[in-house]
Amino acid sequence: MKNIWIIANWKSNKSVKEAIEWIDFVGSRLEKKPNLKVVVCPSFIDIEEVKKTILVGNYPLLVGSQDLSPFDAGAYTGEETASILKQFVDLSILGHSERRKNFGETDEMISQKVKQALDHQITPLVCIQDENTPIPESCKLVAYEPIFAIGTGNSDIPQNAVEIANKLKQKSPEIEVLYGGSVTAQNAKGFLMQDNLSGLLIGRSSLDPIEFVKIVEVAYPF
Ligand code: PGA
Repeated sequence: MKNIWIIANWKSNKSVKEAIEWIDFVGSRLEKKPNLKVVVCPSFIDIEEVKKTILVGNYPLLVGSQDLSPFDAGAYTGEETASILKQFVDLSILGHSERRKNFGETDEMISQKVKQALDHQITPLVCIQDENTPIPESCKLVAYEPIFAIGTGNSDIPQNAVEIANKLKQKSPEIEVLYGGSVTAQNAKGFLMQDNLSGLLIGRSSLDPIEFVKIVEVAYPF
């Protein structure tokens, strides 16, 4: 049975209080399923309280970060290292198009970040914007997120996501490919039902806990 990843990318949203309320709401409504990995990626400052709330509630939720430092521990003011994040997170979103566009992230930096993640047992989830985005060889989890679909309400069609996934799997059969970009509870099924897609990366629709639970419910049969 393939893994299904349902990943909430909160971006720069939610106070600690709002984050805890979301976790209690969503966590208490989720069913545990061995192949279903539901991951929440809060802002750095929310991560610790989110993790504690999950442990106290014994909820079937994992925690991820939205980025991490390309460097190891040391004199890098303002950076969050993989070794620090490893205390709380299992996964890190890397190379999101918003980071490339707004913070000048390059493919080389992303590949350093992937290395840092793997050196500290954090699963790197690399975002690709199209089939030409380089993927570090050691990365086995990617999200196809076409720029036109991010935050616009216009998702791509499942067939395009499958086409990208098929090409990536030809090169690296064990790679898992997710889709991201304007995912909602309405369009989630079209992606999840595709054999070569392994889940969803969700921005705006993940902020509302009611909508997010609906999306996870769509994933249960897969
Ligand atoms: P969106 O964002 O769901 O708001 O389009 C997705 C993402 O940027 O990961």
